[in-house]
Formats: sequence, structure tokens, C-alpha cells
Amino acid sequence: MEDLFGHRISYLRVSVTDRCNERCRYCMPEEEQDWIAKDETLTYDEIVRVVRVGTTLGIKRIRVTGGEPLTRPGIAEFCGELTQIPGIEGVGISTNGTLLAKMDQGRTMAEKLAQAGVRTANISLDSLDRAVYQRTTSRDLLPRVLEGIDAAIDAGFDSIRLNCVLMKNQTERELPALVEYAAKKNALLRFIELMPVSTQEVLSEENFLPVAIAKRLVEQTTGPLIEEPDFKTNGPALYHRVSATGQRIGFIGAMTNLHFCESCNKLRLTSDGKLRPCLGSYLEFDLRAVLRAGCSDAELADFFRSVVARKPKEHDFRHNYQPNRRMIAIGG
Ligand code: 5AD
Ligand code: SF4
Repeated sequence: MEDLFGHRISYLRVSVTDRCNERCRYCMPEEEQDWIAKDETLTYDEIVRVVRVGTTLGIKRIRVTGGEPLTRPGIAEFCGELTQIPGIEGVGISTNGTLLAKMDQGRTMAEKLAQAGVRTANISLDSLDRAVYQRTTSRDLLPRVLEGIDAAIDAGFDSIRLNCVLMKNQTERELPALVEYAAKKNALLRFIELMPVSTQEVLSEENFLPVAIAKRLVEQTTGPLIEEPDFKTNGPALYHRVSATGQRIGFIGAMTNLHFCESCNKLRLTSDGKLRPCLGSYLEFDLRAVLRAGCSDAELADFFRSVVARKPKEHDFRHNYQPNRRMIAIGG
């Protein structure tokens, strides 16, 4: 599937729930949420069907996200089903890490996911300072996340990425410890620019820290970083290597990198079954309605194609603040 601007679509991010056991300041308000009702949430069987049809159109990789995907019962078994779909080459999960060390039927959740065939785990880690972590996520769960990261390492994923959202007057102090920790754990650290994807008051200019500054701050502790334009994961991160140690660090400049959208290969499926061609635009299409109206696979495929045809050239975050859609519902 290719859109009007030559984006070749091969990657589907699937949000399995809008619920989360944390309340990150840039993502979800603390007060009671207007959760998506259970019968409005796609069932695992519905998602598996969507993915199966997606593969006939070139979808090859899936990332399972939320909310917090590990709060949905049966998540490892569901991921296992995804990995078995012919044409799917890789399944990854994005998680806040708090539940990875949780035991379930004698295994950690991390082990269950890895054994189900999930290859990569993206784990949010904004700070290694317990108080700062608590302030950022509204939960005192840093020790559990660190156990979760260790559980993920023991579980043997192909790759573990640690994602840190950049916040001015906060991340600056966290950078050296995060870089050192990622090196010690042999995990791929990535810094992400704050995106205006929720209603939170924290999403303002004063809290914005551009990747260019983060890179300079990293260099103050590691020495020069060498850009690696040819190293790519599935997403839009730009990678660098610390020349002294070889450690690789990624920078996701969603706001400041004007080429950010050029290599976009993604569609998003929200937990309530909307297909979104772009994280940063209002556009979404009600796949659930089509599914539940009893469509055929061919009709489902046509629906996919029509959404891809509406994929914008680039996101409009810079001009268009989105007050009504939360990251959790979209699938970070
Ligand atoms: N800006 C940037 N990243 C965000 N995430 C959630 N909200 C935002 C935002 N406003 C990230 C989380 C997590 C991933 C799912 O999305 O840090 O790593
Ligand atoms: Fe939960 Fe992730 Fe949102 Fe934080 S960023 S509140 S961990 S979904």
C-alpha cells in the first residue's frame, strides 16, 4: 500500500486499551477518565482479523500499545496469535514497564511475551530519580519499572528500547544517569520530543526541550556523538553513536525535524477501532462500524486502502493543537 506521497505502509500500531496504571503528565489527566466501554473496544479476534487482512496489503510489522497494554488480560496470548499470522515479520510491544516483572502462571509477563514471539520491548523511562519519576507519572512505581526492565533483559527480547520524553527543566538533569543506565543494561535509549497529543497543561512551549539541545547535553557527558543516518529501526528516530564507547542513542524530533514524516510507514488502530492514517491529524475512520456490519475481507481491504489514500503528507502538530484526542486512545 502506498499513499499519494509515496509513503509505503508496512507498519500498524495497535492500541489494545485506553487504560493505564500510570498518569504521565503529558499523557493522561489524574481525574476519573471517560474510558472507552468494553463493548466499544475491539476484541482480540477482531484485531487479529484486521491484521490478517492488513498483511495482504503489505502490513509486515505490528506494535502493540495502549494505554498500558499489559493491563488488558490475555495480552501475551494475543501477541502470540499476531506473531503466527503469515506475513507478519515482527511484533513489538510498547509498555510503561510496571507490569513486566509481574508473575503470571509461573512466568514473568516479560517471559510470556518473549516466548509468544514478541521481539522488541519499548519501555518508557523518563527518569531514574524516584521522586522525579513519581512527579512525572503520578505513581511511585520506579522500582517496579526497573525490575520490569531486568525481567525484559532476562526474557531475551531481541531488542529493548528505553524511551524518555524530553521535558525542559527536568530531563536536563536526568540525561547522564539515563545514558549510563542504558549502556549498563545494553538497551537502546531514545529521547522523544514532547508532542501536543493530549489536553494536559504541561504541553506548552515552556516545557518543550528540542532534540538538538538534548543531543548537546548528552555530548557533555559522553563526548562527541556521530550521526548514523543509515541505522534505522521501524520508526522515525535518528540514531547517533557515542564515539568513545559505541553506545547508540536515538532522537525522535517529532516537532523540530522537518523531515520527520518523509519516511512514515505507519497506520494506527485505536482501541475503539478507528483507523488513523496519522498521529498528528484529526483524521480517523471507523473501522469498527465496518467490521461489525459484517463486512467481507475484500471490503475490509478496500477500507484500508481508502484510509491510506487519505494519509496526509505530514503531521500538522506545529499548527494544529489537538484538544480532544488522547495519546492513550490513539496508541502512542
Ligand atoms: N509526547 C511525546 N511522547 C508521548 N508519549 C505519551 N504522550 C506523549 C507526548 N505527549 C509516549 C510515552 C510512551 C509512548 C507510548 O508514548 O512516553 O513511551
Ligand atoms: Fe500510561 Fe504511557 Fe500514558 Fe504514561 S504515557 S500515562 S504510562 S499510557
